[in-house]
Amino acid sequence: MSVLITNIGELVTNQPERDADLDPGGAGPVAGRRAADAAREVTGRGAADAGGEDSGRRAADGAREVPGRRAADVPGEVSRRGAADAAREGSGRPAGPGAGSGGPGPFAAISDAALVIDEGRVAWFGPASRAPAADEMVDADGRAVLPGFVDSHAHLVFAGERGAEFAARMAGQPYRAGGIRTTVAATRNATDDELRANLRRLAAEMLAQGITTFECKSGYGLTVPDEARSVSIAAEFTPEVTYLGAHVVPPEFDGNPDGYVDLVCGEMLDACAPHAQWVDVFCERGAFGRDEAAAVLAAGQAAGLRPRVHANQLTAGPGVQLAVQVGAASADHCSNLTDADVDALACSDTVATLLPGVEFSTRHPYPDGRRLVDAGATVALATDCNPGSCFSSSMPLCIALAVREMHLTTREAVWAATAGGARALRRTDVGHLGTGGRADLIMIDAPSHAYLSYRPGVPLITSVWRAGERVA
Ligand code: NIG
Ligand code: FE
Repeated sequence: MSVLITNIGELVTNQPERDADLDPGGAGPVAGRRAADAAREVTGRGAADAGGEDSGRRAADGAREVPGRRAADVPGEVSRRGAADAAREGSGRPAGPGAGSGGPGPFAAISDAALVIDEGRVAWFGPASRAPAADEMVDADGRAVLPGFVDSHAHLVFAGERGAEFAARMAGQPYRAGGIRTTVAATRNATDDELRANLRRLAAEMLAQGITTFECKSGYGLTVPDEARSVSIAAEFTPEVTYLGAHVVPPEFDGNPDGYVDLVCGEMLDACAPHAQWVDVFCERGAFGRDEAAAVLAAGQAAGLRPRVHANQLTAGPGVQLAVQVGAASADHCSNLTDADVDALACSDTVATLLPGVEFSTRHPYPDGRRLVDAGATVALATDCNPGSCFSSSMPLCIALAVREMHLTTREAVWAATAGGARALRRTDVGHLGTGGRADLIMIDAPSHAYLSYRPGVPLITSVWRAGERVA
C-alpha cells in the first residue's frame, strides 16, 4: 500500500541530484527549477555541494587527487575537499560526491514538498503540487520531514547504571575509562533476558526519538561467553553489530594485558565474529595502546569484520592515525585532535564521528567540528548511548550540542546525524530520502530542520516511519 505524505514545509532529502530523475513528467524545466531550489538550500561550505555537473566532475577529480583514495569509493560527502574547491570555482545543478552512488549526497532540502512511500521505499518526492496519487494520504500541515537518524555508535548491551558516578563527575571527579569495569561486573551478573529487556527498552527509546538505524557494541562482558552473548543479543535488534572485546582489560587480566589481547584476537573473536559486522577497539591510555589496538583490528579484519575505532577520546593519542591507516569506516570521539589528525581524516574515507553527548556528560571540552568540516573531513554525529560516559539516546540533543558547541551549521549537524551516520556504517540505503532509499523518516512539529537546535530539549518529533511503517 502506498502512502503520500503531502504539504511538507521542508523535506530534507540529502539527495538533490536525484530530484530531476524523479520528476514524473521527465527532467523538464520543473525538475531544473527544483534542482536550483535545492541548490540554494545547501549550506555554506556546501555552496560547494550545490555545484553544477562540472563541479561534480571536479569534485570527483578532487577525490582522485587525494592520496590513497579511490574516486569510486567516494560516496557521501567524503570528497568534500574536492567539492569545496569546485564550489569556489562556480556552480549550477546540485551534484556532489554522492551523485549517482545511490547513497546519501550532500545536504539538500526542498520546500512545499511531498513524498510517496511504497513497499518500504521512497517511491517519489518533489513539489506537493505535482504529487501523484497514493492509497493513503498524510497531511504534514507544513511540518518538516527528515531522514530517520542513523546512530552509528551506541553501547546498549549492559546491565546496571552509574548515576552516582555521573553525580561525582559533576561534583568535580574526572571521567576515567576504569568506570567501564563497574558495568562489566553488573553485565556478567545479568541474565540474557535482563540484557535483552534493557536493550529492547533503549531501542524503543531511540526509535521514538527518530533513530531508525543504530549500531550496537558489545564490550561489557569481556569473557568469551559474555562477549558472545552480547553480540548475539545485539544481533536480535540491529544488523549493525560491533565486537568490542577490546573495551578495557578486565580485572582478571590485571598485570597480563597481552594475555587479554591474545584472547580478544583468538577464542573470543572466533565466538563473536559470526554475530558481528564490525570490530572496534578503545585505543586510549588506560585501555589499549597503538600496537595492541592494531593487533585487535587486524585479527578482526582477518575474521571478516570491518574496523572502527574509539579514537582520541581522552588524549591526542594514536587512535585516529591508526583508524585511517587500517581504512576504518569511522574514528569515533575525535575529542583531542592534532593538525596531523585532522589532515589524516580529511584525506581519507574514515568518517570523523563526533559524540557531543559525551562531552556534555563528562565536562570534557567540545572538539571543534568546524575545524574538521572546513578541512574536508566527513563528519557524523552519534549518541554513544552507554551507562557511563553518556546515558542519552537523544540525537536531537547531539544536534543541538553540535551546533551550539562544535560550531556546525544546523544543516551540517542534521546531515551528520543522518547521511553522516550512514557513511560511518557504509550504508547507502539510509540517511537520505532519495528514490529507492529505505523509507525511514521523521516528521517534526516545526517548519524546518533548524528547529532541532533552535528549540533544544523540546520533544519535536511527532511521527516516525521505518521501512515505510509508521512506528511512532
Ligand atoms: O565510548 N570510551 C569507551 N567507551 C565508552 C564509555 C563506556 C563507559 O564509560 O561505560 C565511550 O565513551
Ligand atoms: Fe563508545
